[in-house]
Amino acid sequence: MYTSLLTSRAPSVSFRCTKSSKRRHGGIPMREASAHRDIVVACAGVWKIFGQRVSEAIEAAKRHGVDKDEMLARFHCVIAVRDVSFAIRRGEILCIMGLSDCGKSTLVRHINPLIAPTEGEILINGEDIGACDTKRLRHISAAEIAMVFQNFALLPHSTVRDNVAFGLELRNLSKMARWDRAQRIIEQMGPKGWEDRFPSELWGGMCQRVRIARAMAVDPSILLVDEVDEPFSVLDPLIRRDLQSQFLEM
Ligand SMILES: Nc1ncnc2c1ncn2[C@@H]1O[C@H](COP(=O)(O)OP(=O)(O)OP(=O)(O)O)[C@@H](O)[C@H]1O
Ligand SMILES: [Mg+2]
Repeated sequence: MYTSLLTSRAPSVSFRCTKSSKRRHGGIPMREASAHRDIVVACAGVWKIFGQRVSEAIEAAKRHGVDKDEMLARFHCVIAVRDVSFAIRRGEILCIMGLSDCGKSTLVRHINPLIAPTEGEILINGEDIGACDTKRLRHISAAEIAMVFQNFALLPHSTVRDNVAFGLELRNLSKMARWDRAQRIIEQMGPKGWEDRFPSELWGGMCQRVRIARAMAVDPSILLVDEVDEPFSVLDPLIRRDLQSQFLEM
């Protein structure tokens, strides 16, 4: 079930909050969002500008609504995310849609959290990640979050089982425990019977199942999927429906 559908034809991801006087995460005041146990991800006024002259660039964007092309011409900066606010509750699926280059992947990478915003606040399970040091960020990323990357290939020299178990290595599980968990996920998500094969022996839909199984294996509280398309779109319709319901169940 897609509970929110956000579309943006603007040149950068831009979901504006309705009330601008206070920082709000998707309509929920920040203090409430941090205390709200049900809210797993909350963003308030998140901006990301790439380049050297980011302070001038953000000022111009805020004061004069400078768009992406003008920003590039005047400041040699790329505006990727523009004042985004939202909150996601436990069990909710948020789908971010937009034209190519509008900033979807950049926004998702903030939640991982692989990059820091130029401005704005991000809460993961109530914790302000802007206030975390690198060690804490790494811990949050490993313990809470899994991501299916847009272009992240499988490890070519590892078997399907090892690929699925990959994320569990970061959690210091023994090899047996990793394989056990990987096997259980492969039995649910597939591709069952292909555990000892290598990625070069698989085809498109199977690779996708392994990538999703790898993310699910760590049992994340937050699963980020950065895909050009719906994650199961490469699979044939019957398998797709099956996996979609298993995915939602999990
Ligand atoms: N590290 C970076 N340095 C400079 N510019 C960047 C960087 N990362 C992304 N951008 C720019 O930010 C903008 C948004 O890129 P992003 O990859 O987030 O778009 P997207 O919506 O995911 O596109 P697609 O649908 O093609 O995946 C683009 O103009 C891109 O060139
Ligand atoms: Mg992208």
